[in-house]
Amino acid sequence: MDNPLQIAIDGPVSSGKSDISGRLAKELGLTYLYTGAMYRALAWICVQEGVSFKDAPNVYPLLAKYSIDLRPPAKDGSHGFAVWVGNTDVTDKLFTPAMSQGSSDVSTIPQVRKFMVARQQELARGKSVVMEGRDIGLRVLPQAQLKIYLTASLEERARRRWNQYKTKDPTKTLAQEIDETKIRDTQDTSRAADPLQKLPDAWELDTTDMTQEQVVDAIIQELKRRNLL
Ligand code: DC
Repeated sequence: MDNPLQIAIDGPVSSGKSDISGRLAKELGLTYLYTGAMYRALAWICVQEGVSFKDAPNVYPLLAKYSIDLRPPAKDGSHGFAVWVGNTDVTDKLFTPAMSQGSSDVSTIPQVRKFMVARQQELARGKSVVMEGRDIGLRVLPQAQLKIYLTASLEERARRRWNQYKTKDPTKTLAQEIDETKIRDTQDTSRAADPLQKLPDAWELDTTDMTQEQVVDAIIQELKRRNLL
């Protein structure tokens, strides 16, 4: 492809990035790359190895020991992507509160970020993609034709998460979910290495009162308005 269409979607926890990116990619026939899954996979590896998430000197070498790969979803998979560590599909192991916090922790390590960015650029090279994460517009695809900053109110994002995890942990209250979301927000936006931020050239979309269909529709309209579709 001569001029691949690359769309970067960044935003805080539960702003709808994954669902929206997956749907958008499907609708436009683009490759969906969910970069958070790679940080989650590293957190999973840390647990297997008994390394604590913030122990930078011991976390970083794990990236040389294991390969982390994003692949198309398994046929019977419940996610729109698959994450492999070596020869193991770990996709279903990555969506627990511990992996959420662990991935946020390992993502604060600058060497880890540098490695992940290079790997993610390699995965996207020459391809038309919808790529989502925290630093996609800033570092991974600074040349993306459309950079989107997807957001929603803290309460709405926590409520979405709570609904998502409710069956796994029925004891958790919405108030606790709000607190946990706030902690990850603070960590993701205040870390020294490439904190989450709205870039000056990003198009901001607040999804608080929007359905997923409305959000996908709004993005398609924006792509058309910019003559990208
Ligand atoms: O998108 P997610 O919530 O599954 O990502 C998990 C964590 O990984 C998130 O708290 C921050 C980190 N992350 C990152 O720092 N940069 C990315 N491009 C993607 C995720």
